[in-house]
Amino acid sequence: MSQEPKRGHFAKEKGEVILREHEYDGIQEFDQKLPNWWLFTFYGAIAWFLGYWVLYYHTGAFKTSHELVSEKIAAIQDAKVAELEKTLASLDDSKLVHEWAANPEVVAAGEATYQQICAACHAADMSATMTAGTVKVPLPGLPLDDHEWKFGGKPMDIFRMVNEGSPADSTGNNGVKMQPKGGAQLSTKQVVEVVSYLISKLPEDFKDIPAPGGQG
Ligand code: HEC
Repeated sequence: MSQEPKRGHFAKEKGEVILREHEYDGIQEFDQKLPNWWLFTFYGAIAWFLGYWVLYYHTGAFKTSHELVSEKIAAIQDAKVAELEKTLASLDDSKLVHEWAANPEVVAAGEATYQQICAACHAADMSATMTAGTVKVPLPGLPLDDHEWKFGGKPMDIFRMVNEGSPADSTGNNGVKMQPKGGAQLSTKQVVEVVSYLISKLPEDFKDIPAPGGQG
């Protein structure tokens, strides 16, 4: 093994730029010391990474932006839930008719839920019948468009009926009771929406419900 200095050593001493010997596809390489500004940013980035990694991921001194965003989202969701709970806690006949059922978005959402879940027993047109050829076949549910309300015709009665299902003392319709729709199947909000849809379809049944804060 020769200890003979290479050509590059002399060149470096003289401050010359050295072209390295290898070549790939016509590409050659200078053998130069990287400029200090470049090295400074490079080592600086490593130092920054170490500091950042220790402070953010190991000491918990700072929160990562991911944690900050998650916290913000959780706070917004909590506020939304709290607001909804407040609204639902103060739900009454007037609000159901004049606020919820008067809101086209609520009604549209309620209609979607109705067609998806309720139409099976109450029919898409609320008649609780299905036409098979020329015969009308009754469905398990009660008609909702007959202006007769077995468990009370106030909006809150209907809300309670849909939310909690047939009252314990009901013998059902031909022995069939309605299961509670609130809880496992629908959120309270969805129950409110679907009831709002019913109200919007049957304005004459609820025309005597006064507006919130109004006289009557
Ligand atoms: C599996 C069948 C079934 C489904 C699905 C169903 N219902 Fe019913 N519904 C019934 C039955 C049966 C009754 C009668 C219950 C009784 O008499 O105890 C009833 C009664 C009602 C009543 C009372 C009607 C009246 O004349 O007083 C309302 C309101 C009602 N359902 C709304 C809904 C809504 C809204 C949905 C969808 C979220 C729904 N139902 C889904 C079977 C069903």
